[in-house]
Amino acid sequence: MSETPYSNTGEVPSIRIKDIQRSYVSGKIVNNVLKGNTFDLYPGKLTLIMGPSGSGKSTLLSVISGLLEPDSGTVHINDTDIWQLAPREIEKFRLDHFGFIFQGFNLFASLTALEQILIVLKYVGKKEAEAENIAEEVLKEVGLAKVMHLKPMQLSGGEKQRVAIARALAKKPEFLFADEPTSALDKENGQIVISMLHRAARVHGTTIFAVSHDPRLLPHADRVIRIEDGIITRDEPGGFKE
Ligand SMILES: Nc1ncnc2c1ncn2[C@@H]1O[C@H](COP(=O)(O)OP(=O)(O)OP(=O)(O)O)[C@@H](O)[C@H]1O
Ligand SMILES: [Mg+2]
Repeated sequence: MSETPYSNTGEVPSIRIKDIQRSYVSGKIVNNVLKGNTFDLYPGKLTLIMGPSGSGKSTLLSVISGLLEPDSGTVHINDTDIWQLAPREIEKFRLDHFGFIFQGFNLFASLTALEQILIVLKYVGKKEAEAENIAEEVLKEVGLAKVMHLKPMQLSGGEKQRVAIARALAKKPEFLFADEPTSALDKENGQIVISMLHRAARVHGTTIFAVSHDPRLLPHADRVIRIEDGIITRDEPGGFKE
């Protein structure tokens, strides 16, 4: 796609994705998953990517967020050409700048909801008292004040998902990547999560890139990208109006 509604807005993109190709090889079979995608993402905006199962959404998210090296193409995060960094530098970069919400939650089995968040804040250098204040605050925001001392196996699926979301937001990342952030949530909790993501984009200028099948997210998206069979087919404004 040469011209998108976002190619000439005058804003400075925070992420520039250029000609990304990625295949998976197993034996003699090559599965070309991403077939050359180019687009920019902007600070303060929540961009959704939607498309059929297997169309390459999670693969694309992994390439952009420094988890999966592309076969060709570049990803610039601000001025950093991320795939030119050494693996350790990428890890550090991700820790310093990225928040993640994964479909499988990725919670530590032995830690309470509160500890899941404290551990991340400790990594980014927060002092204990400050970390506790922040962690309690974000858990309250996602409606988990009562269960903050429970471990994942004692939490419902939706509660686990909200812990994962609180953890991603706690360090106020500049970039937030989310794979199906509301899939396990009922309407009310889905709404809480959507408004939190939305607020992070607005208030903190976070660049948010989220994979979703959830039509409830559409009114809150600034932009919706559709992908089919590894190719972007549509790229248009979402329902959110200033
Ligand atoms: N680690 C892997 N090894 C081999 N093939 C893979 C791997 N991960 C993904 N694929 C293949 O790449 C294609 C795209 O997968 P991807 O997970 O990006 O799809 P998706 O759009 O996120 O789908 P869903 O909506 O079901 O999550 C699929 O055909 C999948 O089988
Ligand atoms: Mg996926």
